[in-house]
Amino acid sequence: MSGRQSKRVWRRYALLGLTSLLLAACSEQTLPLNSLDPKGPIAERIDGLFWPVFWIAVIVFFLVQGALLAAILIFRDRNVEGQKEPKQIHGNAVLEVVWTAIPTLILAGIAVPTISAVFDLADCPTGAFEVDIVGHQWWFEYSYPDYDITTANVLVIPTETEVCANMTSDDVLHNFWIPNLNGKRYLVPGSNTELRLNADEPGEYWGQCAEFCGLSHAKMRARVIALDQSDFDLWVEEQQEVPEPPAEGTPEWEGLQVFQQAGCTGCHVLAGVNEPSRQDVTVVAPNLTHFASRSVFAGATLPSGFDPTQEEREAALASWLADPPSIKPGSFMPDLGLTADQIDALIAYLESLE
Ligand code: CUA
Repeated sequence: MSGRQSKRVWRRYALLGLTSLLLAACSEQTLPLNSLDPKGPIAERIDGLFWPVFWIAVIVFFLVQGALLAAILIFRDRNVEGQKEPKQIHGNAVLEVVWTAIPTLILAGIAVPTISAVFDLADCPTGAFEVDIVGHQWWFEYSYPDYDITTANVLVIPTETEVCANMTSDDVLHNFWIPNLNGKRYLVPGSNTELRLNADEPGEYWGQCAEFCGLSHAKMRARVIALDQSDFDLWVEEQQEVPEPPAEGTPEWEGLQVFQQAGCTGCHVLAGVNEPSRQDVTVVAPNLTHFASRSVFAGATLPSGFDPTQEEREAALASWLADPPSIKPGSFMPDLGLTADQIDALIAYLESLE
């Protein structure tokens, strides 16, 4: 191959590499899942471990690759007439001790802060704010034992508060991951795990189930909303209210009729519509009591986009109600064969549940 040809081949490879990198970035929706942007003391502790280790690894990489490159260049076969074969060496005790000792020291140095952080972050401190998280295929259920609130898809927490999530799973292994607030932790069927969450500032923190849990694993997302204590108290008050039944004849009332007659109440609980409370029922679907107060639904995948309008939200809800499994493959919510009018009525009703 001539020099020009090989240059062309290399250019092609470089282009291919760049294109695949670009395409890899074009997923359906880019989620702001960034472990390197800590928004609270727990994530900061982890971040504080990551960077020193990263820079040590960078230095080691350049030292080792530099030495390798130097050896290749300095000792290469120069194809010179009469060049003698270099001296053959096997084993060098000093060198081997040194290159075993250096990594050992580096690893031991890294282990000290790592192990202490792992233990410090492992268990919830006493007196933490308690939340229960249950993983379901494919959505997260959140309940607040001290407040008798059960919700789904959106976990609301107070800021600057040590929150302790007691987690378990209703079916298979799931993994709760809010990268801005902490690392990942498993939700294990038949067992309990704890995850600490602590957000410095009010905001919306995105998350994702981080363990393959079946067909719609990728569509099992999470959203944490952190509120100032006063806003949080207000939220609690609103969530504890039982929604007023809509006035007869209104579109919301029509929607309630559909809700009760189309089979929704077989799986979903809605305070004031179908009691008893969740504790007595096997939970198979999100509690919808304050559905409209949540920014997302359908495993926190809808509405997509970062700042959806009310129209976009309703359009997403319409497509979800029309055929859930087409949006979340394997969804246990079936296509109920609702008519367009029934869907409109249901949307009017659900969107009134603030
Ligand atoms: Cu739940 Cu992946």
